[in-house]
Amino acid sequence: MAKNRYSVLFVDNDQGFLSAFRRLFLNEPEIEIFTAQNSKEALESLSRGVIDLVAADQQLEEMSGAEFLRLAKENHPDVLRMLLVTAAEVEAAVRLVNSGELYRFLAKPWNEEELKITIKKGLEHRALERERERLSEQIKSLDGGLKQKVQQRTIQLEKAVARLKQMSEDRKRNFQDTLVLLTQIMACSNRFLGGHSKRVAELSRMTAEKLVDNQDEVEMVYFGALLHDIGLVGAPDTLFSKDAEQFTARENKAFRKHPLIGEVIIGNVHNLKRLSKIIRSHHEDFSGRGFPDGLHAGDIPLSSRVIRIASDYDHLCFRKGRSAGEACSLLKRGSADLYDPRILNVFCNLTGSVMQKQTSVKLVSAGSLEPGMVLDEDLFLKNGLLLLPHGSIIDSQTIKKISAFSSLLDNAKLVQVAVQ
Ligand SMILES: [Fe+2]
Repeated sequence: MAKNRYSVLFVDNDQGFLSAFRRLFLNEPEIEIFTAQNSKEALESLSRGVIDLVAADQQLEEMSGAEFLRLAKENHPDVLRMLLVTAAEVEAAVRLVNSGELYRFLAKPWNEEELKITIKKGLEHRALERERERLSEQIKSLDGGLKQKVQQRTIQLEKAVARLKQMSEDRKRNFQDTLVLLTQIMACSNRFLGGHSKRVAELSRMTAEKLVDNQDEVEMVYFGALLHDIGLVGAPDTLFSKDAEQFTARENKAFRKHPLIGEVIIGNVHNLKRLSKIIRSHHEDFSGRGFPDGLHAGDIPLSSRVIRIASDYDHLCFRKGRSAGEACSLLKRGSADLYDPRILNVFCNLTGSVMQKQTSVKLVSAGSLEPGMVLDEDLFLKNGLLLLPHGSIIDSQTIKKISAFSSLLDNAKLVQVAVQ
């Protein structure tokens, strides 16, 4: 039995029987026997709250044992109830057991050993019930505590996530603001530079998406491409209008410095630092004969290898008027020395299917712009401010922007675009 000591109350009008019950459990120290000669005494004893099991004779004087046990059940439902019955009363007692009024009945005259075993089993049953109740309460309180802890932790985590999200959004916004600012500086600095950067960025991103699964890496290629020529801001126009072979020694020296200048500019911007190496290496040749470091093949950052191809392709298409197919053929001719052949292959397949179609140029109204079109000339406002540079690829954002400024456009709301 789980509990150390139990209390049993016998109720019988016959003092002799009560004494017999006491004697029966004399050698059972874990069972304390209480007795009552009538229902009133018995109810008083029960009211003290220490009784685990009550066994009543059916033949009480003032009420039947069954009636007394019904009262006991009403006031003390947890106390186990047994009824001592004669053979004639067994049938009624069985019905009471079946209806849940009684735990057991004991037939008179009783067998002492059998009575002791029945009482002990009843007490064990009672002990198990109490243990189950105790555990149930414990689980309930544990559940409550856990629930409260989980709720507290959830609130704390939600707050932390919201803080991190806000920080992340702020950082992202700062990053994007910085990029917008720098690309606008580039666009204002030189007519060709703004469009070149955007087109190279788009082409580099599309190429990177074919080469790597990691979206972060794709974004790095895009951002690096967007800023790759920032070191040319403020450079003389001849650096844009001439081929490298036509540069004077001075121009050549200035041109070869622009990756290093770009690296220094971007390296000084805290949240762009990781792009500086990409920018430094965008004029390295695959053969190791490029500048500024003469890096070879896989030593050149992948982003820089992509940008190198996209940038040269853009020069051929937009500065020298080559078609996409011609540009790719020219790039492939120099591929062994200058470009990563695997990336060049991916790039040319991509431009073959996407960019080659952008051949016709026409004027469209601001409301007729469609994603995929490319601005064929700088788009200025009436007050002379540059809205979008030549070469900008039209997407949903640029359409919104042009639409918002359409009444202020310099060219009667018509936009010259290259279309597929
Ligand atoms: Fe460059």
